Amino acid sequence: MTDVDASCLRQALGAFATGITVVTARGTNNRPIGMTVNSFTTVSLDPPLVLWSVGRDGNSADEFVAADHYAVHVLHAGQEDLCVQFARNTDEKFVGLETEPGLAGLPLLKDFTARFQCRVEQRLDGGDHIILLGRVLELEHRPAEPLIFCNGQLLRAERSLPSRGNID
Ligand SMILES: Cc1cc2nc3c(=O)[nH]c(=O)nc-3n(C[C@H](O)[C@H](O)[C@H](O)COP(=O)(O)O)c2cc1C
Repeated sequence: MTDVDASCLRQALGAFATGITVVTARGTNNRPIGMTVNSFTTVSLDPPLVLWSVGRDGNSADEFVAADHYAVHVLHAGQEDLCVQFARNTDEKFVGLETEPGLAGLPLLKDFTARFQCRVEQRLDGGDHIILLGRVLELEHRPAEPLIFCNGQLLRAERSLPSRGNID
C-alpha cells in the first residue's frame, strides 16, 4: 500500500475546480443549520440524485447526518461574502439573512443560481466524511455567472472558449 501525504493530497485535490454551494437543513430543535460546501456533485439524472459529503468533525455534522432533507444553493459570482459567512464556525450564520420555508420546513436562501431541495436516500461511510446521497424533489435555476473554487481561492470565470468550449 502507498502512503499518501495528507498535505500533498489536499493540495493536489485543490487543483480540481468546483463550484461553491451553501447546504442548509433543520437541526436540533428545528434550528436552521448551514455550511459552505464544495463536495457537492451530480450523480444521476434518472433518478435525479446528487451528493455531498459532510466532515465528521464539524459542529453541525451530526445534525446534518440526522436530517432527512437538505437544500443545496449553488452560489453565483458576487456571493463571496455568503461563502465566507457559512464557512465560519459560528451559530450566527443566518443572522441578517432572509429565508423562506421549503419542503419539510427546509430553511431556503433566496439568492442563488441553482437551488435543489433533496430527500436523503443514503448515508454512506466516506472515511473522515459521511456521504449524503439525496434525491432531488424540487429545483430552481436562474442562470448567472458562476462562483468557482480552485487551489484554495474563490475565482470568477475569466473567459470562455467559444470554438471548443461547448460540450453538449
Ligand atoms: C470552499 C469551502 C468548501 C467547503 N466544503 C465542505 C464540504 O464539502 N464538506 C464539509 O463538511 N465542510 C466543508 N467546508 C467547511 C465548512 O464550511 C466549515 O467547516 C463550516 O464551519 C462547518 O459548519 P459547522 O461548523 O457549523 O459544522 C468547506 C469550506 C470552504 C471554505
